[in-house]
Amino acid sequence: MNAPSGGETVQRSAAAGMAQKRDAGNVHLDVAGLTKAYKGKFAIEGVGFKVRAGEFVAVLGPSGAGKTTLFRCMTGLLTPDRGTVKLADLDVMQLHGRERRHVAVVFQQFNLVSRLSALGNVLAGRLGYVPAWRGWARRFERGDRLLALDCLDRVGLLDKAGQRADTLSGGEQQRVAIARALAQQPDAIVADEPVASLDPKIGSGILDLLRGICHRDGVAVVCSLHQMQFAQTYADRIVGLANGRLVVDMPAGAFDTATAAQLYGGAELRSMLD
Ligand SMILES: Nc1ncnc2c1ncn2[C@@H]1O[C@H](COP(=O)(O)OP(=O)(O)OP(=O)(O)O)[C@@H](O)[C@H]1O
Ligand SMILES: [Mg+2]
Repeated sequence: MNAPSGGETVQRSAAAGMAQKRDAGNVHLDVAGLTKAYKGKFAIEGVGFKVRAGEFVAVLGPSGAGKTTLFRCMTGLLTPDRGTVKLADLDVMQLHGRERRHVAVVFQQFNLVSRLSALGNVLAGRLGYVPAWRGWARRFERGDRLLALDCLDRVGLLDKAGQRADTLSGGEQQRVAIARALAQQPDAIVADEPVASLDPKIGSGILDLLRGICHRDGVAVVCSLHQMQFAQTYADRIVGLANGRLVVDMPAGAFDTATAAQLYGGAELRSMLD
């Protein structure tokens, strides 16, 4: 797992560029038997799949299929009724406070602190590494600031470092959110519809960034998407949920129209392709 913060570590990261490359090919994130019901009705039931380090997995499925419930369970935001989520040797559900840094979350609505600058938001990604008092006082060390600037540079927003988050465009805000995730030096990034609020061109840019981080840094990425074309273009593997169950798990190149019809049903698929 990642080394704790310290001058030496941060300088290495800032210079070398983010997290060390993991052993691509190893099973990194292992989701098994996840089940969550609301008032006796299953939102997800027995969902399991594995993600390797450096693998980009897209999660597809119709509205209400259980994608957000799955993601919330995977990130510890929601406690499932049954099932486990392992990140290498860590039990994600047992991670608390600063240990949560191992899994970064990217949201559809960006979830930035609007009154903080882009840099201030990215520095929030370092909270899992610095002593609590530094976080409260927002007194980050030079190494953390350099690393945060490096992350902003990587998403193409170094020139906006001092700009308030709520004055950035939607696409820029999502880039800042990705820079914040990078600053966390995570082992996995879980992104629930990160491009649903953006136009397709801007969305492609965001997915390019996520794929770059995934492949270059060996981070496991799980990303839900509404546009299956995006999943086919960017993902290494596609898993599909329907009615809370996992019904598809295959290489993205094998995902064809027949599989899409099975996942979405004919009518919904036609409306997606119109
Ligand atoms: N807090 C909750 N209380 C009750 N039911 C819920 C709750 N959260 C989700 N559900 C139900 O669980 C099911 C799955 O919802 P979920 O939000 O996970 O779907 P989704 O695949 O993310 O949909 P979308 O593509 O529209 O975002 C839905 O039937 C939803 O109504
Ligand atoms: Mg959802």
